[in-house]
Amino acid sequence: MTTQRAESIGTFRNRSAAAAAEPYPAAAAAILNGDGFSAAENEIRSWPGYAPTPLRRLPGLAHRLGIAALHYKDEGGRFGLRSFKALGGAYAVFRLLAKAIMQMNGGQPVTARALVAGEHKDIVANITVTCATDGNHGRSVAWGAQLFGCRCVVFVHEHVSAARRAAIAHYGAEVIEVRGNYDDSVRHAAREAAAKGWTVVSDTSYDGYREIPVDVMHGYGVMAREIIGQMAGPLPTHVIVQAGVGGLAAAICAAFWIGWGERRPQLVIVEPTRADCCFRSAQAGVPVAVSGALDTVMAGLACGEVSPLAWEILGRGANAFAVVGDRYALDAMRALARPAAGDPAIVAGETGVCGLALLLGLHEQPEHRAALALTAASRVLLIGSEGDTDPALYRQIIAATPIAPAP
Ligand SMILES: Cc1ncc(COP(=O)(O)O)c(C=O)c1O
Repeated sequence: MTTQRAESIGTFRNRSAAAAAEPYPAAAAAILNGDGFSAAENEIRSWPGYAPTPLRRLPGLAHRLGIAALHYKDEGGRFGLRSFKALGGAYAVFRLLAKAIMQMNGGQPVTARALVAGEHKDIVANITVTCATDGNHGRSVAWGAQLFGCRCVVFVHEHVSAARRAAIAHYGAEVIEVRGNYDDSVRHAAREAAAKGWTVVSDTSYDGYREIPVDVMHGYGVMAREIIGQMAGPLPTHVIVQAGVGGLAAAICAAFWIGWGERRPQLVIVEPTRADCCFRSAQAGVPVAVSGALDTVMAGLACGEVSPLAWEILGRGANAFAVVGDRYALDAMRALARPAAGDPAIVAGETGVCGLALLLGLHEQPEHRAALALTAASRVLLIGSEGDTDPALYRQIIAATPIAPAP
């Protein structure tokens, strides 16, 4: 274990990690499972505009970083919302509307196509969904609500940028600011919903609230299943996944464990140095909350509390945890925008590059590579979870420093 400093990196090997040969645990399957992933896949693949996002190869950058291969799942084009989050919140909205309709129509199955066509309008229009968000989750819930015809109210905390608020409002949602950080906005949304009879569509679980975050995570699994289908040649040895509340990481962990079994890659969870709730939870062996402003440029990861359901999967499913400072995230965005010879240029947002940020940090501070079992033979998969979800901020960051051409 290494002491963390802002702008630096830290690593921690998970002593409780399951052995590679261990089958996917029953306790995890009670949360995320193959049936749930298949149901989400069947549903989401039928939505207007669905297309798998590209899995890109970056041999030039792999060479520069001293590893054998680098794969980058590029979520920038997902449903026009520019992040993988489009898969989760919107799917949970669909599921809750379908269940509400089925309660009234004697259990007849409901399709997304019927909702998009305006069938069941009378029932759906009386339902209000709500959530708290750093930006991308709220955009997904608002988009789903608009697509399927219900009302939506989204709570944002003080640090959510104007562009991200506007992007949510663009899908017809009412956007309301809450004082404090992300976790304060989660609690506020829950209180408002209880008082007003709205349904909370949260990407994080809490006591007595499991079903919807499970739907959200099963929706994310569509991305993992795409990767399984797209991966040609030898499988990756490592997957580095960024964590906010841990839902994305748990979905990737479960889908790869189920799909690839003992051939699955080692899972490394990475967070910003100042929003390191998973890292600290791993050190403590139990979920630990981090408070304060959780200030980081990686806005989607500014979460101080890991989702308990995600933790039930990651506690044994993650092999290592890491933290990385903002400086490396900015460098990573620029490295993707101005690529090494032979690599494609990629538009990647601050939160989307967290895994690459860690690799850049490890390149400068190789003493951490051992904790992650990273060697020159490693084949690394990164989850490029967003494109330029705040385009003006993206342009500002890319323009700030000219990048020397990669060696
Ligand atoms: C682009 C992006 N990547 C990753 C994450 C992290 O996902 P989770 O909160 O499920 O860990 C988020 C969360 O908002 C996000 O917006």
